[in-house]
Amino acid sequence: MSERKVFYFDNNATTRIAPEVVDAMVPFLREFWGNPSSAYHFGSQVGKHLEAAREKVAALINADPKEVVFTSCGTESNNSAIHSALITNPKKRHVVTTAVEHSANINFGEYLQKQGFEVTFLPVEPDGSLDIHLVEKSIRPDTAIVSVMYANNETGVIFPVEEIAAICRSKGVLFHTDAVQTPGKVKLDVKNLGCDLLSLSAHKLHAPKGIGMLYVKKRTKYQPYVIGGHQERGKRGGTENVANIVAFGRAAELAMEKLEEENTRVRALRDRLENTLLKTIPNTIRNGAKEARLPNTTNLAFEYVEAEAILLLLDGLGICASSGSACTTGSLDPSHVLMAMGLSPMRARGCVRFSLGVYNTDEEVDYLLKHLPPIIKRLRDISPLNDDHRDNDKYDIDAARIKHEQDLAEALAEKDEKAA
Ligand SMILES: Cc1ncc(COP(=O)(O)O)c(C=O)c1O
Repeated sequence: MSERKVFYFDNNATTRIAPEVVDAMVPFLREFWGNPSSAYHFGSQVGKHLEAAREKVAALINADPKEVVFTSCGTESNNSAIHSALITNPKKRHVVTTAVEHSANINFGEYLQKQGFEVTFLPVEPDGSLDIHLVEKSIRPDTAIVSVMYANNETGVIFPVEEIAAICRSKGVLFHTDAVQTPGKVKLDVKNLGCDLLSLSAHKLHAPKGIGMLYVKKRTKYQPYVIGGHQERGKRGGTENVANIVAFGRAAELAMEKLEEENTRVRALRDRLENTLLKTIPNTIRNGAKEARLPNTTNLAFEYVEAEAILLLLDGLGICASSGSACTTGSLDPSHVLMAMGLSPMRARGCVRFSLGVYNTDEEVDYLLKHLPPIIKRLRDISPLNDDHRDNDKYDIDAARIKHEQDLAEALAEKDEKAA
């Protein structure tokens, strides 16, 4: 493991485990390792801590602790919500979701289509927002569930989930929201929100990976996805990951305490970063609505350069950022979120997401602001698609851009055809 300083601007991918969270979980790795379902004291005392953590996680979203089901991750929570809706409503075989969900929903939706279910992936507007009339129109008599994310992990754009919940309620359809990106950034209140199901993942709020939660509103018909023992009041089999659950509880407490900070100090850091980059680097465009957005996220398109090259050079300086969801890193395909917002493949491939968090400092933002502009300049100087390329008077640059765009679109279409 390297000891070099890391400048971490990828908090939507995962977050540093808070030292307070590590302190809370360690006793459950070292001393209190009993099975919480055991009848004897050594086990049952562990069960008490598990329930205390459940109360803390419930408080984060203003739920009743009995409505909290611990899972292994956000992906499992999302899959479980949709699976349950389909199994408990066997005559309803239609699911509504959006084209910009996390792959936990996109790929599960595609899997369901292969199993014969119908899934509508709603399109979004160019600023990443969602037209609620489209949601309303997409609901059919055979719709089992509408699953729309609370906030987008790539752009930070926040969807009008309260309104969507009201539409679903009026039509008698279950509503699930993937709120994985929101704790500590947005005040969560399932009672105001009016959803039936809601997913969280602890590693996005300074707790370890491998622990998630599904809120299941009281009296919602529910079919477990992981079938086994009677754990989680029969809603999810498998011996509970106690240390991680305790960690999740502590992180939930801290997330509530730090909401204010994230909304003021982190937002100010993000805005300074974004505004300076937009001002100082020509041909830079923000992706996603400016206002209805998480306070920590900025997604920027740097025209005529490839995000992969930017990220590589940033990495060399210890700066961590990403070009989309961490789950799709390694793929050369442009982000499905940015493509759904109507970006051309060429522009989408030049986009970088910076997601800040409570551990980021002014000095770290200064460091990024010092190093990023020369990196973009250096890459543009060698990009034949850029106005300032030294040879660009020797060829038709507009034609070169069009050709590049066409080549990318053709390569993507060919890939899609092969996959179909
Ligand atoms: C919006 C969103 N949903 C779901 C997930 C999946 O969560 P997990 O990594 O816990 O499976 C992520 C993770 O990046 C996410 O950002």
